[in-house]
Amino acid sequence: MYTYRGSTTLVTGASRGLGTAYATELARRGSDLVLVARSAAALDELAARLRTAHGVAVRTLAADLTDRTQVAGLLTDLADTPVDLLLNNAGMGPAGPFLERPLEPNQVAVDLNITALMTLSHALGRTMAARGHGGIVNVASTAAFQPMPYQAGYGATKAFVLSFTEALAEELRGTGVHVMAAHPGGTDTSFFDGTTHTMDPRHVDAPADVVRRTLDDFARGRSASYPGRRLNQIGSWAARFLPRTTTTRLAAWVNRSVGMDAVRAE
Ligand SMILES: NC(=O)c1ccc[n+]([C@@H]2O[C@H](COP(=O)([O-])OP(=O)(O)OC[C@H]3O[C@@H](n4cnc5c(N)ncnc54)[C@H](OP(=O)(O)O)[C@@H]3O)[C@@H](O)[C@H]2O)c1
Repeated sequence: MYTYRGSTTLVTGASRGLGTAYATELARRGSDLVLVARSAAALDELAARLRTAHGVAVRTLAADLTDRTQVAGLLTDLADTPVDLLLNNAGMGPAGPFLERPLEPNQVAVDLNITALMTLSHALGRTMAARGHGGIVNVASTAAFQPMPYQAGYGATKAFVLSFTEALAEELRGTGVHVMAAHPGGTDTSFFDGTTHTMDPRHVDAPADVVRRTLDDFARGRSASYPGRRLNQIGSWAARFLPRTTTTRLAAWVNRSVGMDAVRAE
């Protein structure tokens, strides 16, 4: 079992949503923290709250992870901080019909969901492997398992995260560095803020439940975590057995039924 108490975890995207929930649950389990996101004030406020509530050491590093220079600066700042667990949580997801929506959010999603995640995994993974101890949790999504019409760019970034994480986990098997992908389904966060889309509260999970199950699965040494409702994991199995065109059409139907084909900027 991985022990969180006394370890140091770096959480990206910690300023709100699942990242704040991960930081809060990790502090409750006794892990010191490095919190990363762009919103410095939100990180500082969370850090103060967690130090007081749980007596853990918390460092905040404000950085835009889509900016390679800032990512390099972040890694330099971390040179004197041995990170035991990297929790690559920061992510964003453009929605709506691909050609009718701006290109730029798709490019940002690639920079954040893929390039930043891979860069941090490479740099911190190397120091973990050298120490023979550590872990990486990459937050993918149920969107990773099939093409996602009306979230085409987002789904493709999460398919990358799934493939990359499974491959890295195998490369590092037996080294003392454990790598796991987490696949939440719809979760009640600010993920769709700034768009016309709203998540149906009946179909979303609570961030606190999702992060608790994710951290339990990582501690148990699992290679994948499905921390949301049971239907999420069943959906991922279906995508492995049905023909690709069938799963793609099913995903399109589901996304149309929740209005994803009509998403616009707010
Ligand atoms: N919510 C869901 O339904 C759901 C389902 C499956 C998977 N996920 C995944 O879960 C992860 C967390 O999502 P969430 O729902 O918690 O989203 P969220 O509420 O929108 O939070 C996103 C976090 O990422 C940070 N972030 C965004 N752009 C950044 C950048 N350029 N540089 C650094 N940090 C940045 C944000 O902080 P700043 O704005 O302060 O930078 C924020 O802390 C993502 O990887 C997402 O794909 C979410």
